[in-house]
Amino acid sequence: MSHSALSPSSQIHFIDLEAQQAKIRSQVDKAIKQVLDHGIYIMGPEVAEFEKNLGAFCGAKHNLSCSNGTDALAFGLMAFGVEPGDAVFVPSFTFAATAEVVTWFGATPIFIDVLEDTYNMDPHSLEKGIALAKKLSLNPKGIIPVDLFGLPADYDAIESIAKAHSLWIMADAAQSFGASYKGRQVGTLGEITTTSFFPAKPLGCYGDGGAVFTNNDEYAAVMRSIRVHGQGSDKYDNVRVGMNGRLDTLQAAILLQKLAIFPEEIKARNLVAQRYQKGLQDIVKTPSVPQGLTSVWAQYTVQLPENIDRKELMSKLQEAKIPSVIYYVKTLHLQTAYKHHPCVDGHLPIAEKLSQCVLSLPMHPYLQENTQDYIIEVFRDLVSKA
Ligand SMILES: Cc1ncc(COP(=O)(O)O)c(C=O)c1O
Repeated sequence: MSHSALSPSSQIHFIDLEAQQAKIRSQVDKAIKQVLDHGIYIMGPEVAEFEKNLGAFCGAKHNLSCSNGTDALAFGLMAFGVEPGDAVFVPSFTFAATAEVVTWFGATPIFIDVLEDTYNMDPHSLEKGIALAKKLSLNPKGIIPVDLFGLPADYDAIESIAKAHSLWIMADAAQSFGASYKGRQVGTLGEITTTSFFPAKPLGCYGDGGAVFTNNDEYAAVMRSIRVHGQGSDKYDNVRVGMNGRLDTLQAAILLQKLAIFPEEIKARNLVAQRYQKGLQDIVKTPSVPQGLTSVWAQYTVQLPENIDRKELMSKLQEAKIPSVIYYVKTLHLQTAYKHHPCVDGHLPIAEKLSQCVLSLPMHPYLQENTQDYIIEVFRDLVSKA
């Protein structure tokens, strides 16, 4: 039978925001109307309510919404007082924002390799990165582990290295908000944790948004001030250089509705991941979730065998109306903007290998079982024929 004969009647989305919107449309309309009615577009009551609910969800003491996940990282670096001469350790296999912000403050990102099984920062490579920073006469200051594709990094190992070298940890949880690490909820895993509410994220708004989380009162006070131009006792008292980093009231109102259904969406994402795992584990390397950890499956990313021509596979999947995406086709230490920064051993073999063989498949809480069966069947067929 041809693939088109099996194809589901409706379009297959890589991420289906339409289905989610259909589910909560009337609540979202009502929430938007409420904001239009009260007219407090900046720091309106929905912002405080959303922050309260974020705290109830993840258990962090201070939950500050902000403009986006990139600014959230910048808030953290400003709170830590990062400056020129400092080294900050970041994985190379991530979205550009993680390293980008480090350079904003004149500090040096040092690129660390990742683990093949989890796609996350390799603690052994991190140790080498710290030695490299010292060799380059930089001051090792902090670590930004990224919870790639929704899975928390190896915080036990990273924390013990951080402690040994007096480094701070800022968890870049842009993709992992809602996941957990050995009973600890994401939001409580670093001195500061950051996240993004970019629309495609597991918890996304209808525009840009983000948040920072901390249990530390001092960091929280500094970040609260940074969010509004370094504000002191009142709006026109500027005690430090800050930025305009607020979340819009409208986005907070929308996020309140999305957070309400987030727990059930996380369950649905896990069911989708389990079905992929069952259907694909014998033909490609499927993602592994270490014992005691949970993922929110921001992406479902497999590693293709060496004999597979990834571009060709993607175009054949597309012919069968199945979208797929490569996250990330180029590692940061090889990007034009970042290649002059140091990386461990001068090259990062695992990150480089992954960038050549990974492929992300449709993943969202509304992926119907029959649609997923179709994706699995077509994918299996194409990979086994290659
Ligand atoms: C790992 C990571 N860090 C940071 C960001 C930046 O978030 P934003 O797009 O909200 O600025 C993103 C996502 O876009 C991301 O995936």
